[in-house]
This record gives sequence, C-alpha cells and structure tokens, in this order.
Amino acid sequence: MRKIVIAIDGYSGCGKSSTAKAVAKILGYTYIDSGAMYRAATLQFLKNGTDITDIKEILSSLSQIEISFRANPDNGRQETYLNGENVEDAIRSMEVSDYVSEVSKIKEVRTALVAQQQKLGDAKGVVMDGRDIGTVVFPDAELKVFMTADLQIRAARRQQELQEKGVEVKLEEIIRNLGERDEIDSTRKESPLLKADDAIEVDTSYLKFDDQVKKVVDLAKEKIGLY
Ligand code: DC
Repeated sequence: MRKIVIAIDGYSGCGKSSTAKAVAKILGYTYIDSGAMYRAATLQFLKNGTDITDIKEILSSLSQIEISFRANPDNGRQETYLNGENVEDAIRSMEVSDYVSEVSKIKEVRTALVAQQQKLGDAKGVVMDGRDIGTVVFPDAELKVFMTADLQIRAARRQQELQEKGVEVKLEEIIRNLGERDEIDSTRKESPLLKADDAIEVDTSYLKFDDQVKKVVDLAKEKIGLY
C-alpha cells in the first residue's frame, strides 16, 4: 500500500502529539515528535551551561548531541533518549518548556535538527508533528494538518496531563508559558509557525479526542487512496 508523510503543525498544547501518536498507531506508521528534539537540545544546553548567544558554543554542544526514540517495553510509549539516556520526563519540565522557544529560534539548531528529521522521514509512512513540518521539513508532505485550539482550553488540558504525571502547575503559569511560546514561535525569523497554503485546519477546542484522531485518519485514507 502507498505510504505517505503526514505533517501536523500548530500551536503549543493543542493536542498535536497525542493525535499524531494515535494516528500513527492506527495506520501502522512511525510517529516522530520533532518538539522532543528541540526540547532535548535545550536540556543539553541547560546541562552544559551553553551560552546561546555564542555560535561556537552552540555548534560545539550540538556536535555532542545524539537524539533517538525508543519504545518503552512496559507500556509501548515512545520515549526520547539523549546520548543514550532516557530524558522523556526531563524534557517536559517547566524549566525546559520556558527555554525551548529561545533555543528553537537559533538557525544552527534548526539546520541540525531539520536534517535529522528529514532523514527520519525518508522512508515515508511517518507522522511528524511540530511547527514547521509542512512548511520546511516536508514541504511535499502528502497530508498537512494545521491544528488550533482556544488558549484556555489548551492550558486546562496541559494542566490535566501534568497532574496525571503527579506534577502540579498553576493554570495561570501554563497559560503564560503557552502564550509566550505561541508568540515567539509565530514571530521568529527562522521558520516561524505558519499554516502551509495546502494545510487543512483542524480546530480541536470542542472536538473529542477520538473525533480529532478520526478526522486525521480519514484525511490520510483519502490521500492514500483507501476511500
Ligand atoms: O511540540 P512542543 O511543544 O513539545 O515543542 C517545544 C518547542 O519546540 C516549541 O515551543 C517550539 C519548538 N519547535 C519548533 O520550533 N519546531 C518544531 N518543528 C517543533 C518544535
């Protein structure tokens, strides 16, 4: 059967990764969380004390970064590894969330990570989510989805996700973080968050999770030629 690339872009916290993961599972595709790669690079910079205004330091830190994804045998969950260490929880901390958009603005960081993302998508049969997947990483993706949702609703969902992991964060803090990231991600010079001309917009504010997954799976099946 013909395999395609599915690019899912959109604002922070509107359900891109959980939707992308579920779609990949249904289609038997590989899911790639490009945001996790920017988060892993951010974690490495924080650990190394990298001065992100110094290009030499950035390039040196980037050369020491090896990011991979592995399935957890206990729950099948895909987890992010940085230089062989499981960093899945560490990259979701508020410290990383507060710094990642600054790191993602840097051209050298984007060039390095985009090259890795393109390699991962080479074989097709991939669902990748992020901010520039349909515009920069895979401009020829067969299916492009642009996800949006109301900021208050996104923040409440993110708070619940964190609570389920035993992490308590005030709603106002999450609203501030998501709002700031939207602003930086949309207005940066390098590959800003933009809806590709040929992307299909999906507003998840009032959609049930299963319905948003079905919507994307149906669009994918149309593209694959199953409908
Ligand atoms: O998807 P996420 O919220 O985990 O992504 C974290 C940050 O990484 C996001 O605020 C912007 C950046 N990012 C990016 O610039 N380009 C991507 N393709 C994915 C994420």
